[in-house]
Amino acid sequence: MHARAVAATTTALVGTAVLLSPVSAARAGDAVEPTVIAHRGASAYAPENTLASIDRAARMGFSWVENDVQRTKDGELVVIHDDSLARTTNVEDVFPGRAPWKVKDFTAAEIARLDAGSWFSPRYAGTRVPTLAQYMRRVDHNHEKLLLEIKNPELYPGIERQTLALLGNQGWLDRRHLGRLIVQSFSADSVRIVHGLKPCVTTAFLGRPSVVQLPGYARFTDLINPSFGSISASYVSAVHGLKGPHDKPLGVFAWTVNDAATARRAADEGVDGVISNRPDVVRAALSAN
Ligand code: G3P
Ligand code: CA
Repeated sequence: MHARAVAATTTALVGTAVLLSPVSAARAGDAVEPTVIAHRGASAYAPENTLASIDRAARMGFSWVENDVQRTKDGELVVIHDDSLARTTNVEDVFPGRAPWKVKDFTAAEIARLDAGSWFSPRYAGTRVPTLAQYMRRVDHNHEKLLLEIKNPELYPGIERQTLALLGNQGWLDRRHLGRLIVQSFSADSVRIVHGLKPCVTTAFLGRPSVVQLPGYARFTDLINPSFGSISASYVSAVHGLKGPHDKPLGVFAWTVNDAATARRAADEGVDGVISNRPDVVRAALSAN
């Protein structure tokens, strides 16, 4: 096939994948119930950012999970929230002389020795910090969808390209997977880089740009994902009034909503997604609405 025809076909396929994204799906029908995303997995019920937490979300019937990606000293992408290993692993016991126990100062082999479950409950003793490769395989196995956060990108130069390469190698940039993937960051630069490298990927900016700034963001991000406490119905509607890089209205996924009353308020304000440690509480509140 001629290169231009290949490009046209690819564009059409990518367009289809984006159409399948939750942002447009949520607005397609009359019943506009926000998508519920299990934050760091079902993190109120299993240790955050572990395979156990996404298995738990799947068992609870949630297809969307969120995670945080960082990088080890020897260049492996791993799934963990804090820039230090101290809060969610037993690193202080295993490597007592290595304060402040930054993820970037430990090799993947060292991190693989840590227990990332006991801090949460003895039931999860022996749970590991997953590599992103292990994590993606489990998300796929569970037929889940992923809101992948590039965390602290300023600490990890080139992490956007590396993350996209891993996603591509694992088959996550094909048509079937693109509709199940959103890449987000608190760093606008990072989101812009992801969009520049792989325009087919749905992206989200974590934060609340002013209404005046929104058109600039709409050039590289498909969603604006703010803290719920920072927004109002009029802000959500201002976001929805703009089209993103895929020529669809921008979406809004709000975080972190863990109680029924706040979940109902978020739905009333018109958000497209609710990111929650207690997705079951949010689902129950929204279905009773
Ligand atoms: O996805 C939203 C949320 O994860 C952003 O905050 O600190 O939990 O990564 P944080
Ligand atoms: Ca996160």
